[in-house]
Amino acid sequence: MIFKIIKVDEISPAIGAEISNIDLGSALDSETVKEIRDALLRYRVIFFRDQDITPEKHLKFAKYFGDIVEYPMVNGLKDYPHVVPVHKKADEQYNFGGLWHSDTSYLPKPPMGAILVARILPAKGGDTLFANMVKAYEALSAPMKELLDGLVATNSSAKSDVVKSRVDSQKDMRSPPEPLIAEHPIVRRHPETGEKSLYVNFGHTVNICGMKDEESLPLLDFLFSHQRKEEFCCRFHWLPGSIAFWDNRATLHYPLNDYHGHERLMHRVTLAGDVPV
Ligand code: SIN
Repeated sequence: MIFKIIKVDEISPAIGAEISNIDLGSALDSETVKEIRDALLRYRVIFFRDQDITPEKHLKFAKYFGDIVEYPMVNGLKDYPHVVPVHKKADEQYNFGGLWHSDTSYLPKPPMGAILVARILPAKGGDTLFANMVKAYEALSAPMKELLDGLVATNSSAKSDVVKSRVDSQKDMRSPPEPLIAEHPIVRRHPETGEKSLYVNFGHTVNICGMKDEESLPLLDFLFSHQRKEEFCCRFHWLPGSIAFWDNRATLHYPLNDYHGHERLMHRVTLAGDVPV
């Protein structure tokens, strides 16, 4: 793939590229937007450095790639309700979403992606890991692919580990809703590239429809450990001015919680997705 406008540097063979030669705060023409989208589809998560964008410009940039949706539980900023703070204060223990997950797979239409802007960072730690679910699917054996193709899993907003990861952010959250539940195929086809990817995640997937727990849970445990193998992953170290944009249809992510006693604040904008098939 040839990029004529943006500069693209892969950060690992598995997933992730840094994009430079661009100012995300400025107006972007359609060719530039297409190159950014192509880079996202190819590398699954793209990173930008040294950007200086206000919440207003954050929203404007996101709108080039689709409709913006609210996050179901967290309140957005007062003046920008679609910009959601992902905040861990210095005296808090848990970080929001601090486990391997795909965003809100318990919704009927989980997001297409999210754009996260670093606002306050600890001096050390607070990196985010990303994993490529197309590679994770492709690395399975033929019989395992055959078993998984056609299976459907239940995803819930109320799995105990993810509920724990929200404990400290609860103050900024709307009253917790009844558990949100959605059933989605375990292997989904990417709506833009047609590639198959593994669509379960430790954060939200609770069981495989039609299976007994003693069948479903060991299979899910295998998939959860398979999908986070190092060879499918990259690790992003945030610096002031860093931005990450991930394709939520083909990736998992895991923000590390290794900066106790220090504050970390990110701003997130979420893009509308479609029904996984
Ligand atoms: C998230 O899951 O949206 C948070 C990611 C991060 O804090 O790095």
